[in-house]
Amino acid sequence: MATSPYMARKPVHDLVRSGGEGGGLERTLGPWNLLALGIGAIIGAGIFVITGTAAAQYAGPAIMLSFVLGAIACAFVGMCYTEFATLIPISGSAYTYAYATLGELIAWIIGWDLILEYAMVGATVSVGWSGYIVSLLGDLGIHLPPSLTAAPGSVVQAADGSRVTAVFNLPAFAIVAALSALLIIGVKESSRFNVLIVVIKVGVVLVFIAAGVSFVVTANWHPFIPDNTGTFGQFGWTGILRGAAVVFFAYIGFDAVSTAAQEAKNPQRHMPIGILGSLIICTLLYMAVAAVLTGLVPYPQLNVPDPIAKGIDVIGVPWLAVLVKIGALLGLTSVILVFLYGQSRIFFTMAGDGLLPPAFRVVHARFHTPYLGHLILGLAVGVVGGLVPIGILGELVSIGTLFAFVVVCAGIIYLRRAQPDLPRPFRCPAVPWVPAAGIASCVFLMIGLPFDTWLRLVVWLAIGFAIYFGYSRRHSTLAVARRGAAE
Ligand code: ALA
Repeated sequence: MATSPYMARKPVHDLVRSGGEGGGLERTLGPWNLLALGIGAIIGAGIFVITGTAAAQYAGPAIMLSFVLGAIACAFVGMCYTEFATLIPISGSAYTYAYATLGELIAWIIGWDLILEYAMVGATVSVGWSGYIVSLLGDLGIHLPPSLTAAPGSVVQAADGSRVTAVFNLPAFAIVAALSALLIIGVKESSRFNVLIVVIKVGVVLVFIAAGVSFVVTANWHPFIPDNTGTFGQFGWTGILRGAAVVFFAYIGFDAVSTAAQEAKNPQRHMPIGILGSLIICTLLYMAVAAVLTGLVPYPQLNVPDPIAKGIDVIGVPWLAVLVKIGALLGLTSVILVFLYGQSRIFFTMAGDGLLPPAFRVVHARFHTPYLGHLILGLAVGVVGGLVPIGILGELVSIGTLFAFVVVCAGIIYLRRAQPDLPRPFRCPAVPWVPAAGIASCVFLMIGLPFDTWLRLVVWLAIGFAIYFGYSRRHSTLAVARRGAAE
């Protein structure tokens, strides 16, 4: 069907028939499991760390409006993901959807781009984890060497008040290494464990809101939209936009629900509940946390590694601070685990298509896990978490994910025209308008991100092109099959 090798597609029927690596899975997940899956992946460093830094640097108390903008974009995209997830319910997420619709080259670009989402979420959240563990240990009188608790060049305050320049973020590296080891020996979250973590996470967030609300000083909300400093993105309306692009990170994860479509009892009814329901719940929680946090602490003081804990300090109940930090640490751990696991599955699928080296498909004889992939991934993510500050990482994740979302929305419009008769258990409403609104809102948020972040995306994609033309194009299983047929 394709005229150019770059446009070679995997037919949707074949994909669904082969069932990917998840073939033969039982349909056991009901709406509650799917909701828990979504909330488990969504609530993490975005709310526990980035909300504070984004309020301090970009939006002030109007970070609440930034959350609304992010939620609107995610709602449009969520409906597109739901259509794809129920139409092509196999592993690989946006990469697989692109392979079925827009061809191999775009699929490669998306697969490469998804590393910015999955692997870099792992790195970003590991830095958030580090902030909370350092703070918790500090409460217990244990002080890690400050030079080993942040990215090189960051200035950290030691316990005695002196200021130290950091060289490496060791806790961030250590948590990624430990979780990669767990993934290699085959410990992945069971649905029940995930539900427990979700209950703890949501519990911590609710405790924060409930305990904090009566300590809110409404004067901290004035001015609600601080005056722009004269620079795009620093407060004012452009600050709300930049804040939205940055806290968009907090919503990432609802797309992970789509990977469970094959295990949903009733995908048509339950996937929208899982994807859109988790988005609605998280939006409400996020707006409440943002309101309480900026009401408790004057926003310029929120640029810290553990802003929620700083909010709790205002309440003045030390044991609550410890409880919240432990809950945050557990919640952040589960996000790292989910995304490292997701990345390894995407690598596994891409290596199966010949676009990545077979090393990512090598399965351990005893543990039955793609251990080489986990080793390479864990090392890379750990080192990035150890070396790069959370702000840069979070923005890179946001731009990479927004780009993938644009392609997913475009894929919905394309496939409705190219193959209108495919069985679609869930149909995104008002096509092409809803996907078009998804594209427009994602591009709008991308515009809010700094020029440097765009540059990093371009460099990352350029490296991806080089790998595609240097390796993947020749090793692709579709290309190999084509050559075989021609001989
Ligand atoms: N939304 C996830 C988080 O905030 C990635 O950690």
